[in-house]
Amino acid sequence: MKLLVVGGGGREHAIIRKLKENPSVEVVYALPGNGGIAEDAVCVPEIGAKDLDGIVNFARSHTIDFAVVAPDDPLAMGCVDRLHEAGIPCFGPDAKAARIESSKVFAKNLMKKYGIPTAAYQVFTDPKAALEYLNGAQFPIVLKADGLALGKGVLIARTPDEARQAVRTLMEDRVFGAAGDEIVIEEFLTGPEVSVLAFTDGTAIAPMASSMDHKRIGDGDAGLNTGGMGAVAPNPYYTPETAKICMDTIFLPTLRAMREEGCPFKGCLYFGLMLTPDGPKVIEYNCRFGDPETQVVLPLLKTDLLTVMRAVENGTLSELPVEWSGDSAACVILASGGYPEHYQTGKEISFTKPMPPNVTCYHAGDKDCQGRLVTSGGRVLGLTAVAPTLKQAIRDAYQAADAVRFEGKYLRRDIGDRALLAETP
Ligand code: AMP
Ligand code: GLY
Repeated sequence: MKLLVVGGGGREHAIIRKLKENPSVEVVYALPGNGGIAEDAVCVPEIGAKDLDGIVNFARSHTIDFAVVAPDDPLAMGCVDRLHEAGIPCFGPDAKAARIESSKVFAKNLMKKYGIPTAAYQVFTDPKAALEYLNGAQFPIVLKADGLALGKGVLIARTPDEARQAVRTLMEDRVFGAAGDEIVIEEFLTGPEVSVLAFTDGTAIAPMASSMDHKRIGDGDAGLNTGGMGAVAPNPYYTPETAKICMDTIFLPTLRAMREEGCPFKGCLYFGLMLTPDGPKVIEYNCRFGDPETQVVLPLLKTDLLTVMRAVENGTLSELPVEWSGDSAACVILASGGYPEHYQTGKEISFTKPMPPNVTCYHAGDKDCQGRLVTSGGRVLGLTAVAPTLKQAIRDAYQAADAVRFEGKYLRRDIGDRALLAETP
């Protein structure tokens, strides 16, 4: 089989590695891929993830048997719709279903209409009305731009002044462009965060191992939000009792809501949850695999990934048992110094020793430069270790992370610490 994966980060590398475990896979093309992914796939750097014409033409001319669209932008732009029109089977939601991520207003209204637990909220299109609303509000409060904003469209305001400034930033200065034309202002929730990614064909659902992201740049969750600096799986806060509550009050109702709205969701639905004192609530939905969560979750999948993805596409997921290993995984992200703000690229990457067998190095932001691997992005590598215990996985991931060299290398030193605290009885 000839496969195509749209995207070029650590998440896509983890997907490609797993797809290749199926012996029927002859070749995987990555559009655009990156320097490290080129060890596992044929990368096509000329075709970016948002170049829908380029992607569809490539899929046609290379007689692709199955495609996976991983990032949010092409999903929201209708990449899956276009591939289907061209007769190419693929994994991912169509544009209508991808609105569950690409429009926060759509997602919030969906949850309200179908009684799915989430933070109380109001939607605003007029900055004056938003500013007025803040006069009677409780703080902290959360402000969200409606559209995709590279995961940065969420502002948490501790005081009325900060909140007013956030309204101006989103709606008047329009730092996230049109995403700020409509904003959601919502209640600030507290509690441990859990990411649950789930395979779904629109009706059946197979939740993956739960995970925990580490979004902030600094140890102890200090500093700016990033794309994610590390992850662990499973998430020890997500007990079997909590999983049952989430299935009954969140997962199945969300699938039903999407069907009833005429946009059944097929693909990987990501539930960003907060376990509040009032029970689990949805913080956000994503219409795709999370990054770095995918780098800890997929290594724990025992069932063949391509078989699962084809069952999702064919609507036969209910007939397939999807199994997970009982192991734990930890991923430590190595970033370029200065990320998520300004950083330098073009730094040569070297390894002081080979990776042990339980560690995988996923490439997120690097490229080949005349036979040398050099940094090309903010998040550069993800080192994932799988082990019988979370403690050992974390230790092995850090040992691997310390065996990588590049100028300006930055990493958090506390990935998994909070999860270990929850594990201690
Ligand atoms: P998002 O981009 O929607 O994942 O939001 C980024 C982060 O902001 C989340 O991971 C949470 O830590 C935080 N956040 C978002 N919404 C809320 C909320 N209603 N209450 C508290 N924290 C929130
Ligand atoms: N790790 C968060 C995300 O993928 O959106």
